[in-house]
Amino acid sequence: MIEVEHLTKKFYNTMAVNDISFIVEKGEILGFLGPNGAGKSTTMRILTCFIPQTGGKATVAGFDVLTESLEVRKNIGYLPENVSMYSDMRVEEFLKFRANLKGVPRNNRKQKIDMTMEKCWITDVRRKIIGNLSKGYRQRVALAESLVHDPKILILDEPTVGLDPNQIRETRQLIKDLGKNHTVILCTHILPEVEMICDRVIIINKGKLVAMDTPESLMRKLMGEKILHLEVKGPVNEIKSALEKIKGVEKVFVDKTMQEIIFIKIEQQEKQDIREDVFYEIVKNNWILREMHIESASLEDIFFKITVKEPIVKNEISGGANA
Ligand SMILES: Nc1ncnc2c1ncn2[C@@H]1O[C@H](COP(=O)(O)OP(=O)(O)OP(=O)(O)O)[C@@H](O)[C@H]1O
Ligand SMILES: [Mg+2]
Repeated sequence: MIEVEHLTKKFYNTMAVNDISFIVEKGEILGFLGPNGAGKSTTMRILTCFIPQTGGKATVAGFDVLTESLEVRKNIGYLPENVSMYSDMRVEEFLKFRANLKGVPRNNRKQKIDMTMEKCWITDVRRKIIGNLSKGYRQRVALAESLVHDPKILILDEPTVGLDPNQIRETRQLIKDLGKNHTVILCTHILPEVEMICDRVIIINKGKLVAMDTPESLMRKLMGEKILHLEVKGPVNEIKSALEKIKGVEKVFVDKTMQEIIFIKIEQQEKQDIREDVFYEIVKNNWILREMHIESASLEDIFFKITVKEPIVKNEISGGANA
């Protein structure tokens, strides 16, 4: 559906996009993740034919973004980062105007607009002036505008920014629903959004692709070192030194103590499951084990690891043209 090969964009001295390659399959929701200035919007603006690349190649629905931009645009719905709309128009009037421009045939234009308004939950505001709508509703109108010609591919740049928590939840659900019938690229730096919505995630940093995988597999690969959390009742020093002797334990930290209760974090060696040994050690000494759980890594940990520290997953990129 979308193929990007060695894509590069240079603005004067800035390499905004630096040799990026990836593929988005039909029906996939791809999360495009990266910190501020990573090159997300620049990549999306190239894919939607708003700016030309400096190097490399990109095709969308089989059409080249440089040489077949008209065809590309027909197949794409784009919600840009900063939406500017005709704020003195009424919602339905605006959608009619846009549908006309996008070449939606007259005979089913009304039906398409009605369906799109329904999908984006804006039927109830169809006669309102866009400028008077709340930000959340305006965002929905913008989304409806990107959908009105029923494109195969949707590119959404930060679609939930500035919305209240309820609107965020509804918009995410809407994107998930849209993903059933569309190929979607969702640009964001909000990690829970990606975890919730996306089938696959690409992380870029300073213009370079640093990871590409499913959110789950990314977490599995990167989080070899698991942390075991314990809540134990007993003498702190004895417990600590007993735990340190267990095979597979890397390090024992006493997090805090509250009266007799000790909160402990154990760093385990990779691929070890020390839970049973920990349990028996504590029971053997007649201490009391109040809680034990393994901390599962969040995408946030991974994001931090590869965008703030060194890009450690570079060798593990898989599942696309960079593999
Ligand atoms: N038109 C432009 N002229 C010059 N530099 C630009 C232009 N557009 C983007 N850049 C630079 O390219 C880099 C990538 O910007 P881009 O907008 O793609 O980042 P982003 O990942 O979308 O960030 P954000 O999360 O802040 O939206 C930045 O350093 C930015 O300053
Ligand atoms: Mg951006």
